[in-house]
Amino acid sequence: MTAPGEIVRFSDELQIAESAAVRLARALRDALGRRGRASIALSGGNTPRPAYALLAREPGIDWAKTHVFWVDERAVPPDSDRSNYRWAKATLLDHAGVPAECVHRMPAERDDLDTAAVDYEREIRARVQAGSDGLPVFDVMVLGIGDDGHTASLFPGEMTVDVVDRLVLAVPPRPPTHEARLTLSAPIIQRAHDVVLIVTGATKRSALTRVWAADGDVHETPARIVRNCRGTVTWIVDEAVSGATNRE
Ligand code: 6PG
Repeated sequence: MTAPGEIVRFSDELQIAESAAVRLARALRDALGRRGRASIALSGGNTPRPAYALLAREPGIDWAKTHVFWVDERAVPPDSDRSNYRWAKATLLDHAGVPAECVHRMPAERDDLDTAAVDYEREIRARVQAGSDGLPVFDVMVLGIGDDGHTASLFPGEMTVDVVDRLVLAVPPRPPTHEARLTLSAPIIQRAHDVVLIVTGATKRSALTRVWAADGDVHETPARIVRNCRGTVTWIVDEAVSGATNRE
């Protein structure tokens, strides 16, 4: 079973957070060195929080030239305990001193999520470097994987993973799986220059196995979209999720 990209495997959660923070910082410094500006898109959930806290302490990142976006967001107020923004603010933004003008929060609390998606796409197009085809290319993107094989807020059994004509999508609620969301779509995820996936815990082993398997259905396991990423893909995983049998 061959993962699409480099696998970095640790047994210790601190080592995972350190490895992720170092890789994210390196990618940001590279972008800043190349172009004098950088863009990063953050996933939410629990897994990346320790890495964000360590990223805030990484040297050599000019956060006044680094634009922070989100991969997805829940339809909750920005100060809610379920808000991806709230946790990124608490772990990274406040500690790294990211200026307000560089923080591009996903407005998923708005009543009209379709318009919110259009507005956020406009903000991405205005701020994120375009590739040769004119579409935005995030320098760095952090992704996670849910136990069910979702990534971002592209969930199994939903057609959102098929949408290719928009960069940001409104995701209807589907209790009890998820509340309404905003999410980046597969094409903009697949175009990122450096994708770092942080996946830990035995509960995700089945999903990760389906992502790494040569054959599979992206509608069953939307995280399989990373198999078609154009940039570098780095998997930072623990033994519980990846086991020794999948060792490269
Ligand atoms: C979200 C995330 C989502 C996350 C996975 C894993 O809003 O929930 O963006 O895609 O990466 O659900 O979440 P955990 O890290 O909490 O397991």
